[in-house]
Amino acid sequence: MDKMTLHRLQAMKARREPITMLTAYDYPTAALMDQAGIDVILVGDSVGMVVHGFENTLPVTMEMMVLHCQAVRRGTRRALLVGDMPFMSYQASVPDALRNAARLLAEGGADAVKLEGGQSVAATVRALVETGIAVMGHIGLTPQSISALGGFKMQGGTIEVARRLLDDARALEAAGVFSLVLEAVPARLATLISETVRVPTIGIGAGAGCDGQVLVTHDVLGLYERLTPKFARQYADLSGAMRQAFAAFAQDVRARAFPAPEHEFAIADDVWETLVRELSPDQPH
Ligand code: KIV
Repeated sequence: MDKMTLHRLQAMKARREPITMLTAYDYPTAALMDQAGIDVILVGDSVGMVVHGFENTLPVTMEMMVLHCQAVRRGTRRALLVGDMPFMSYQASVPDALRNAARLLAEGGADAVKLEGGQSVAATVRALVETGIAVMGHIGLTPQSISALGGFKMQGGTIEVARRLLDDARALEAAGVFSLVLEAVPARLATLISETVRVPTIGIGAGAGCDGQVLVTHDVLGLYERLTPKFARQYADLSGAMRQAFAAFAQDVRARAFPAPEHEFAIADDVWETLVRELSPDQPH
C-alpha cells in the first residue's frame, strides 16, 4: 500500500472514508499496526502514563518523545507518523516550538507533530506550518492542561465552552493544521466542528461524526488497568494473557519443566570428552 500523506487524509475526508489512528510507543507495536493498515500512528505523550507509569502526561520530556519516535519510525512504513509535542516544549516561545518540533522530525523521524490548545497556540501553529512542519491540532480535553480543566472530563458541555471550541477549531484551521484531534467533546458538537472545518477531524470520545477515530493502544489491548475511559473499546485482554504467560513461565521453571531438551544447545562429543578427560587427572591422556 502507498505511504499515507496529508493529501491522502484530506481526500479520505472528501470521500467520507473513516481515518484510523492509534498510538504506538515501540517498534514491534508500530510494525504490527502498520501491517494492519492503520492510517496514522501517533507517538502520544500518553506514553508517560501507559508506558512510564506517571499519573499524567506532564513529566514527559523531549528526550522521551524523540526516543519513542525513533523506535516507532523503525516499525512504520506506510502510516503517517505523528509525534506529540510534550508539555512545555512549545508553550513558552515560538523558537522553543520550532526547535523541538524540528527535533521530532529530524531526530525522531516523525512526519508531523501534534500539539494541544486552540486560539492560544494558533500563532505557534502558523510559525511551524510556515517553516514547513505539518501540524495536527488537539482541542477539547487537552491532558497537558489537566489541572486547569479539573480532571479527565468532557469539554464543551456549556454554551461558552462549546462556542470556544468551535472558535478554536476555526483558528487552528486558519493557522494551517492538516488535521484536528477532538477529545472528550459531545458528539453533536464534534459533528458540527467536523462539518465546519475542511481539515479531517479525528475523534477520541467525540462520537461517530468525526472524520476518523483514535484510541490509546493500551486501552484497545486492555494493557492499562489504572484508568478505563468511558469512550474506549477494548478489543483484546492482553493484561490477562500476559499475567497468565508470566505465571505459566514461573510455574514451569519451579517445576523444572522449562527449559526442555529442545531449548538446549549441544556440545560436540569430541569436545566434551576432551574436556572431561582434562578434568580427570588420573585418566591417561
Ligand atoms: O497522547 C495521546 O495519546 C493523545 C491521544 C489521546 C490523541 O494525544
